[in-house]
Amino acid sequence: MASCKPPNFALITATTPNWGIGLNNDLPWKLKADMSYFTRVTKRVHGISPEDTSKTIQNAVVMGRKTWDSIPPKYRPLNERLNVVLSRSGSVVSLESPNLSFPSFSESIRHLTSLPDIFRIYVVGGSHIYREAIKSSNCTHILLTRVYHQFECDTFFPEIDENIYGLAEHEDLVRFVGEDVPKGRLSENGLEFEFLLYVRREILGER
Ligand SMILES: NC(=O)c1ccc[n+]([C@@H]2O[C@H](COP(=O)([O-])OP(=O)(O)OC[C@H]3O[C@@H](n4cnc5c(N)ncnc54)[C@H](OP(=O)(O)O)[C@@H]3O)[C@@H](O)[C@H]2O)c1
Repeated sequence: MASCKPPNFALITATTPNWGIGLNNDLPWKLKADMSYFTRVTKRVHGISPEDTSKTIQNAVVMGRKTWDSIPPKYRPLNERLNVVLSRSGSVVSLESPNLSFPSFSESIRHLTSLPDIFRIYVVGGSHIYREAIKSSNCTHILLTRVYHQFECDTFFPEIDENIYGLAEHEDLVRFVGEDVPKGRLSENGLEFEFLLYVRREILGER
C-alpha cells in the first residue's frame, strides 16, 4: 500500500564559514563533540507514542558512495541506523543487508518514506547529495555545525539560501534533536564551533 507520510527529510552537516566540508575524502578537522552529536542525533528516535516505541523504529542515513567510502570499515554500516548509499555506478562495497543502495536520490527517499519503521531520514552528505537534497521542497531542516576556522577544503556544502531557510531559535533546535544542546560558541582544543538549525521558512516557528 502507498505511504501517506510526506517524503520529508533533514540534512546534517558541519561546515567552515565558507561552506567547506571535506578534504581528500576525509573531514578537514577532528572534532569529537561534533562526531558524538552526529551519532546521538542520527540515532535518536523521540516524541513518538508508547505503542510505537515497542516496535523497531529507527532513522535512515542517506549518503553518497564517496562518503560511505570515507567511513573507516570498522564503523560501517553506521550502527542503529538504516544506511542508504547512493551510487550510479553500483560500486558500493561491503553494504550488508538490511542496508540499501539506490541509483538515485529521489528513489531512495520514495522507498524510505514507504517503510513503516523509519522515524526520520537524515541526509548526511557529501556535496553531491547535499546539492540535490537542498533543492527539494521536502528538505525541511538543516542541522548545521558551524566550524569557525577556514580549513583548507576541496568539497563544499551548497550555501544556504536564507530566503528559503531561516535560522531557528535555539529552543527549536533542542526540540528537534531531543537533547539539551549547549547554546552559542563552544570550543574543543581551541577550535570554536556552534550547533545551529535552519528550517524551511514555511514551517519556521511551527511547534
Ligand atoms: N563535513 C560534513 O558534514 C561532511 C559530511 C559528509 C561527507 N563529508 C566529506 O565530503 C567528501 C565526500 O563528498 P563528495 O561530494 O566527494 O562525494 P559524495 O556526495 O559522498 O559521493 C559522490 C558519489 O555518490 C554517487 N552519487 C552522487 N549523486 C548521486 C545521485 N544523484 N544518485 C545516485 N548516486 C549519486 C556517485 O557514486 P558512484 O561514483 O558510485 O556512481 C558519486 O560519485 C569527503 O571529504 C567527506 O569527508 C563531509
